[in-house]
Amino acid sequence: PFRQRLLVVANRLPVSAVRRGEETWSLEMSSGGLVSALLGVKEFEARWIGWAGVNVPDEVGQKALTKALAEKRCIPVFLDEEIVHQYYNGYCNNILWPLFHYLGLPQEDRLATTRSFQSQFAAYQKANQMFADVVSEHYEEGDVVWCHDYHLMFLPECLKRYDRKMKVGWFLHTPFPSSEIHRTLPSRSELLRAVLAADLVGFHTYDYARHFVSACTRILGLEGTPEGVEDQGRLTRVAAFPIGIDSDRFIQALELPHVQENIKELKERFSGRKVMLGVDRLDMIKGIPQKILAFEKFLEENAYWRDKVVLLQIAVPTRTDVPECRLLYMLDFIVSDLLFKGGVKVLGSDCFTYHTVLDYINQSPESLVHWYLLDYQKLTSQVHEIVGRINGRFGTLTAVPIHHLDRSLNFDALCALYAVTDVALVTSLRDGMNLVSYEFVACQDSKRGVLILSEFAGAAQSLGAGAILVNPWNITEVALAIGQALNMTAEEREKRHRHNYLHVTTHTAQEWAETFVSELNDTVVEAQQRI
Ligand code: UDP
Ligand code: G6P
Repeated sequence: PFRQRLLVVANRLPVSAVRRGEETWSLEMSSGGLVSALLGVKEFEARWIGWAGVNVPDEVGQKALTKALAEKRCIPVFLDEEIVHQYYNGYCNNILWPLFHYLGLPQEDRLATTRSFQSQFAAYQKANQMFADVVSEHYEEGDVVWCHDYHLMFLPECLKRYDRKMKVGWFLHTPFPSSEIHRTLPSRSELLRAVLAADLVGFHTYDYARHFVSACTRILGLEGTPEGVEDQGRLTRVAAFPIGIDSDRFIQALELPHVQENIKELKERFSGRKVMLGVDRLDMIKGIPQKILAFEKFLEENAYWRDKVVLLQIAVPTRTDVPECRLLYMLDFIVSDLLFKGGVKVLGSDCFTYHTVLDYINQSPESLVHWYLLDYQKLTSQVHEIVGRINGRFGTLTAVPIHHLDRSLNFDALCALYAVTDVALVTSLRDGMNLVSYEFVACQDSKRGVLILSEFAGAAQSLGAGAILVNPWNITEVALAIGQALNMTAEEREKRHRHNYLHVTTHTAQEWAETFVSELNDTVVEAQQRI
């Protein structure tokens, strides 16, 4: 049967390379939702184009790596250290990522005149052009080129400049913020225009798509239609394509003998205790401190549960080189209130410490507490500090309430953990979709555990009816949800699980990709008919 050729272009390849010798490389699975979703896409003749996560300055190394990657149908884009620093650590992860998750721009960059912003933006454009160059080397007429995520917003424009007839789609794996947020970005217009060069632009949710269209109408003055955005008769189609997972891969993994063995061991190790689980990249958007503080509050108020529940938090290290600090970005009554109380210092170059937050919660437990951390490294030590304190406070000689791991797990071990979990806790402050919540549901068909899910994750729109939805900023509410989940009747768990399981097993990654690509093909045909 005819299988359409698909060039998938994303900053991160599904495998990351580690150098073992001059010409030897080993390839490891990359982490993150983008990679796991795209791994579930099978019915295409697909090639991957992206960065292998390492700097390879020498030609010998580049050749050897290109060869090793070819076996995985991957094609590398080589980025040197300076570009990675300015493009990946800088513009992508210190500017776009926090902004798209409503965490604001770095303060200095608000001025837009600083050299770091300008040079990071230039590096971003340059890096996008480097991706485009590699695509054009491998492109054949008729191919679909599918660009992914906030790293590559310039790519559609670069590609269309190369060949106007190329079928180009772009999909964003993060939220697209309200136009009120997007307009603070100094390069707001250039980015929107570059994305609009694509034929089809996709988002996880209808809200993100709507935000994008209104950014185009308000910032660029273009016309928004139910189909998308129109510019002088040319239409860029904009739509929502909620992503899914390869649920069968998870369900089948649970049947493997060594996974079964692992499940048995875990059950024994935690027998007599309910297992709560968090799995996140250690990113400020995931609300890990908020989650742990809520768990502490739950233990504080529910002495009965102290030796009967354990929280396992897997915190996968990520983007550890993203350097710059960012000032606090949240101006609501609570912060103003803290300012009045003499909290000005914590708004300076430093951030709130958990003590400040805790004091505040203690003073008015029902309030929403907004708390923002500076960067990835600081987040690690802050989380360690809180975990240590809670384990010191509620641990015994033989057991601690929180097991916190700063590492990734392999796929099988992760499936086993999902399967033995009673309550999964997803407390993202903002999250494009959040696939961990889908994966948990897929692995729960015998246990029927409960999912506590942030209303700020895209997944809240699809799994909302089965999950307990919470506002992660409201620690009191999350603590109550933990109690509700642990005490839920089997009947209600069953009902909620059914709902989510049906969704997760019927809205797969494969279906997501097929829908996007067929919509892209149709869009191109329609556009040709219009001319
Ligand atoms: N994951 C991983 N290694 C781990 C733990 C998790 O690769 O040790 C995967 C997990 O299975 C999921 C992805 O990382 O597919 C996280 O995706 P999600 O959409 O939840 O968040 P993201 O990391 O993309 O922000
Ligand atoms: C999120 C982004 C992906 C990214 C992943 C891991 O899911 O949407 O584009 O690949 O995080 O982050 P990293 O910076 O390691 O690629």
